[in-house]
Amino acid sequence: MLIKTTKASDIKESEVCDEGVYYSRRKFIKQAAAGTGLLAASSLYLPTSLAMSDDPVAPAVANAKSSPVVKTKQNTLKFKKTQYGTKLKSTPYEYITGYNNFYELGTGKSDPARNAEYLKTEPWSITVEGQAEVTGKFNFEDILKRHSLQERIYRLRCVEAWSMVVPWVGFPLADLIKYFKPNSKAKYVEFQTLYNPKLLPGQNRRVLDWPYTEALRIDEAMNSLSFMAVGIYGKQILNQNGAPIRLVVPWKYGFKNIKSIVKIRFVEKLPRTSWWKSAPQEYGFYANVNPAVDHPRWTQKRERIIGTYRRRKTELFNGYSEEVASMYSGLDLKKNI
Ligand code: MTE
Repeated sequence: MLIKTTKASDIKESEVCDEGVYYSRRKFIKQAAAGTGLLAASSLYLPTSLAMSDDPVAPAVANAKSSPVVKTKQNTLKFKKTQYGTKLKSTPYEYITGYNNFYELGTGKSDPARNAEYLKTEPWSITVEGQAEVTGKFNFEDILKRHSLQERIYRLRCVEAWSMVVPWVGFPLADLIKYFKPNSKAKYVEFQTLYNPKLLPGQNRRVLDWPYTEALRIDEAMNSLSFMAVGIYGKQILNQNGAPIRLVVPWKYGFKNIKSIVKIRFVEKLPRTSWWKSAPQEYGFYANVNPAVDHPRWTQKRERIIGTYRRRKTELFNGYSEEVASMYSGLDLKKNI
């Protein structure tokens, strides 16, 4: 088996989120697995013994530092600075690249960094399908050539009630979409992660219904905040963060930020996205950050700031109301989670 079970030195979720969240999420995964035929992540990855540390994230970061991928040559990217997030304090690189959710590379927070070497991102292409004038298979390099890169520092808020601040390098999703000229039937944009259990060994286990799929309404996708990231801290994005290209929608919970994208589809009907499909009562299609709507099993009022011992109050739309709230006027945010 390619994915290792969790070692004593691994971080446990209960160290980074409230214990109640940890146990109820584990319980959910077991229950969901029983009901849907998906494999219980807990039976595979539940830690046997756990090391305590003064710094709850330190073990995950230590693992990330010894990851072979971190040692590989990373190209430095040319980009221009922007005004986005210049007042925010970015999370240190080690935490951004050592504390991850990428279930295709393992369900523990340090698994993606440790297993990152399995994923090969050259060559890479993106297939574009559906309600658009320009469709087909496009080399990643050719896509990249059409865009000048910029840096945007955004908050990232995971549904598990932790957060980071990430200096992404990339280009606006709207610029990418315009090239494909979607027609009036394109109401949604669907994204898919690579499906290849050799390169993403977590896909050998049915933790989710692979390939990981996410989607946005077309107006959300065209919003000026929606971003395609190819770098972090000015360097090429590492595999554990979704190389070579991933989505960043900072007003939504982290699970909308799909990694390692190989397919984009312009569709008329609401797509069935991965987490929504697996537990619709817990993970909605919209997944807008909202402190007034608790997750059924834990509060969303506060979040733990990764890399510190601090917590902060969660903000509606993760603090991006000015840019995005108008898209949801008339929508009941308590029902449309
Ligand atoms: N994309 C894929 N393909 N697989 C995943 O498991 N996890 C999501 C999202 N994108 C995930 C994914 C979740 S839950 C979060 S919080 C973010 O990625 C985490 O991004 P990061 O590891 O770069 O911080």
